[in-house]
Formats: sequence, structure tokens, C-alpha cells
Amino acid sequence: MEHVENLEMQVQELLKLLEAAKQLNSNLEIEEVFQNILLQMVAMVGAEAGTLWVLEPEGEEIKVVAAYGESADKIVNVRLKKNEGIAGKVIMSGQPVLIRDVQQHPDWSNRVDESSGFVTKSMITVPLIVKDKVLGSLQLLNKKQSDFFKDEDVSLAVALASQSAMALHNSQMYDELQQMFLSMIRTLAKVLDARDPYTAGHSERVANYSVWIADKLGMAPEEKKELFKAALLHDVGKIGIPDDILRKPDRLTAEEYDSIKLHTVIGADILSNMEPKKAMADVIQTARSHHERLDGSGYPDGFKGEEISLFARIVGVADTFDAMTTARSYSKGMSYYDGASELIRCKDRLFDSRIVDAFTAVLTECDYNLAQYEADHKKEYRL
Ligand SMILES: [Fe+2]
Repeated sequence: MEHVENLEMQVQELLKLLEAAKQLNSNLEIEEVFQNILLQMVAMVGAEAGTLWVLEPEGEEIKVVAAYGESADKIVNVRLKKNEGIAGKVIMSGQPVLIRDVQQHPDWSNRVDESSGFVTKSMITVPLIVKDKVLGSLQLLNKKQSDFFKDEDVSLAVALASQSAMALHNSQMYDELQQMFLSMIRTLAKVLDARDPYTAGHSERVANYSVWIADKLGMAPEEKKELFKAALLHDVGKIGIPDDILRKPDRLTAEEYDSIKLHTVIGADILSNMEPKKAMADVIQTARSHHERLDGSGYPDGFKGEEISLFARIVGVADTFDAMTTARSYSKGMSYYDGASELIRCKDRLFDSRIVDAFTAVLTECDYNLAQYEADHKKEYRL
């Protein structure tokens, strides 16, 4: 009886933690959710180490998405076939498994231990199930201050696992939606860039430059993601500009230039149809204001200084740099070095000096080899 009460208390404790995690969820990377689930389970069941396995979307392999313990860093990202090892068997069967003495067990797959150097003595493996679907399994290794795990430990792990599975499910769904949203935005930007052979890849480059600047400015990861989206969509209003003006090889007349300028207003208008509106505010503002300049000489509103949103000021610098350094039908395009000099020349008058400094720091850091910088930083942002 005492055991059951104890169990209930621990489940309540976990629920509280999960509730707190949920509140933070919108700001949490999925990796952090994986890590939180694992750490809570390890602490509550009292294990020396633990591993969270997730069934890959294709359903053929299982992968370690979080690990805790001595050799955790060597275990993360280990993959096995879905029917390999105990983790896989539990995922296939949906049944928890207690192995008091692991080394004597026929299903033990040595691969993980060999690569990590960790000696597994005793192990609990529980499935993470949501609505009859097994998402993964959680392995707890070596009972603390004892030789082997007992049946009570398994009951506790199973109870905790059902809560954890829900948190895992929610995070995976959220992550999938985010990825889908971002890939749609990317597609939209590509469609836009494809209209003009001279601007191919413009939106993606401006988005990359913007995030690198933001990174140097010390912006938070969530903000950087928002900025990336806003930058990808900054020129979306060009959809509303006729081809013969957009792709005109020679100088534009004053009227033609006026109509090109409208892409800022058209872009903001198009984006204001996207829901939820609150989440789109920065994206809309960036599309509208990325041609504003500090001294008020920009368009469409003639905003000055801090009247221009930070995102728009960053994208304005990234956009100008890409426009200057990309070949057009009428010009070869400047070198990155000359582009940077031009930004520096217009510092404080047209562009925020902090932003220009951040961008020139990026350029000097990679010695003007932006392709290399991109390759080095791609993974970091997981965009
Ligand atoms: Fe633009």
C-alpha cells in the first residue's frame, strides 16, 4: 500500500514537472524535451544512466535521442534496426521488460556498450505509447545503490512513461508542424526567386546573412528562427509586380521604380492574411520596412532610426549587401569586400552601425568566404 501511495506521489510530482515543461514548450527545442523526459525518469526511478530511443519517421530504425550517464555523449545518435536489441524489441511489442542481469540475456545487443565503454548490469526498458502507437522506448540502466532493478521499479517506470509519452508526442507534433510551416515558407521564397534568374537564391541568402548578424548581436534562438522566416519572406510582395518591370534589363523609369517600391506594402498585405496574426507581426513588419533607412530616406513610410523594427533593420543590411554583390544583367556585382566597404561607408546614415559591425565581423571571421561560413554554421541553426 505504501508502495502505491509512493508511486502516486511520484507520478504527481512528474505531472507537475511536465506541466511546467508544457508552459515552456513553445520555447523548447525538441532535443530539450527529450532530455527533460529522460532526466526526470532517471531521477525518479533512481538509475545510474538512461537512454531515450525514438522510432524514426520511416519506421525502420530506432535512434538514441537523449542519453544520461557516464558515456552519454557517445551513445546519442546511435542507430539500430528496429528489431535489434532490447530497446527495439520493446518498441515492437509495446511491453516493458525488466532484465535483472543484462549480460546473461540473449537479446542484448553489444553494440552500444562496446562503443560507450559503459558496463550495463541491470536494465528496465519501457515503451512510450500514445493512443496504441509506440513512439519509442526508455531504458534505465543500473539501479543506484543496489545491484539490480526490482518489479516495483518497473511499475513506477511504466506509470511515468505514459505521461512522458504524451509530452514526447506533443513535441514531435509541434516540431513537425514547425518544419512543415518553414518548408512552405521556403518553397514560397523559391517560387518568388525563380521568377527572375538574377535573383535566384536571393531570399535564402538574405535569410542566412540575417541570422548570422543576429547571432553576432546575441539574439535568442527563438528570435533567430523568427528572423529567418521574416527574412525569407521579405520580398514576397514582388509577386504583385509585373514581370516586364521586375525583369527589365535596363534602367527603370520613375514610375516603374515607384511600382517596384510597392512590393513592401503588397508583401505586408499578403502576409497579413496568414494566421495566427500575432505570430506574423514581425514577418509583416519586416516585409513592409526592409527598405526604410535610418535617416528617413527609405520607403514606404519614411521611418527613422528606431522607428524601423530591429528585424527590418537587419534584413535591410543583408538585402542591400546581397543586391550589391549579386550579378545583374546590367552589372557584374561587387566583391564581398567592396560590398562590406559600402555598408561601412553608409553606417549611421542609412544603416544601424551595430548591425553593420556584426555583419562585417562575420565577413572578416571567414575571410570573405561566405560559402564556407554557411557550411560551418548550417547545423547550428537547424533551419
Ligand atoms: Fe525588397
